Amino acid sequence: MPAAPDKPVLLTGASGNLGRVLARELTALGWTLRLTDLAPFPDPLPERASFTRMDLADGVGLLRLAEGCGAILHFGGISVEQPFGTVLGPNIQGLYHVYEAARREGARVIFASSNHSIGFHERPQGNAAKLDVDCAFRPDGFYGLSKAYGELMGRTYWDKHGVENVNFRIGSCFPEPTEARMLATWLSFADLVRLCEAAVTAPRSGHCVIWACSNNPASFWGRDHRDRIGWQPRGQCGSVPRQGRPHHLGQPGDRALPGRRLHRDRLFPRQALGGGCLRSRLSRAPRQRARSCSARPGGKRRCCPGRAPPSPGCPAAAPRCWRPCRSAPTRMRASPAPS
Ligand code: NAI
Repeated sequence: MPAAPDKPVLLTGASGNLGRVLARELTALGWTLRLTDLAPFPDPLPERASFTRMDLADGVGLLRLAEGCGAILHFGGISVEQPFGTVLGPNIQGLYHVYEAARREGARVIFASSNHSIGFHERPQGNAAKLDVDCAFRPDGFYGLSKAYGELMGRTYWDKHGVENVNFRIGSCFPEPTEARMLATWLSFADLVRLCEAAVTAPRSGHCVIWACSNNPASFWGRDHRDRIGWQPRGQCGSVPRQGRPHHLGQPGDRALPGRRLHRDRLFPRQALGGGCLRSRLSRAPRQRARSCSARPGGKRRCCPGRAPPSPGCPAAAPRCWRPCRSAPTRMRASPAPS
């Protein structure tokens, strides 16, 4: 286990889902954290942590907060698709403030990017090569666009000012996988914490980009720069056995949240988990395909645009991707999940 960093670490987005996990777990490892968020910190303040309520729009405030810090874990901002005007301030200007603070302090930036920066790539099928991290940006909305911009901002600050940065293209970071796509994209909390440890404590990082997902056999992401920081995921979201029931595998450390365990044999309807790619299975099975887009009141709906008739009001109109239909309430969560 790497030693705790010598200098304090600034964590933005501390009151968010991932910020709260990091605040708890990193202070437990002996880190000194400066937490900040627009929203109040909802948990008891951990030892060795201070909290400052602040908008990312406050550039001077961020400069002050970052004073003496060796790294900035930037997890704050808009975390779901929103209109351009909503994304612009926190995710573009706020990010600039973070980079300016890092430049002044000589601190490393760890940026919570997203798979949505490349969301319009086709999923590699069969033996097709997996997506490497240097594939072209293909953002699937304003949110994804802001993440692509964030990664490019990192590139510029490294090339021009020598500000090191590690960009996590996070798949789906939740206590447990909650839908079929996460068989490929899931990142366990424990792997996220280890990733942050590696990114902050690595002797050198330069500018690097990492597919932030656990060791999932179904992953469609390939090469990245993880060797530079010495990170290897240990959690795993397993494939589906023949009997058709899901099987999630984890390390002891991946039973991440108190009172919650990586579950087995739960959550996914059998039909959605026959193995292989959901989209190709849907196109092979017309009756299931028709069902895949039907509304189940209070239940999950999934659209396969271009292959199945979309649900009424479904916003996922793009021809080449499939995604959860956000137009109906889902069983798993009340609001759209960050991704
Ligand atoms: P979250 O939405 O729970 O947390 C974001 C935090 O940023 C919130 O606490 C919010 O109050 C704060 N924030 C928003 N605007 C702000 C502003 N103007 N000034 C200061 N603080 C502001 O999101 P979550 O799940 O914790 O994700 C953290 C980061 O990771 C986000 O940047 C998200 O885009 C990224 N990410 C997360 C994924 C996931 O699966 N949870 C997947 C891909 C990326």
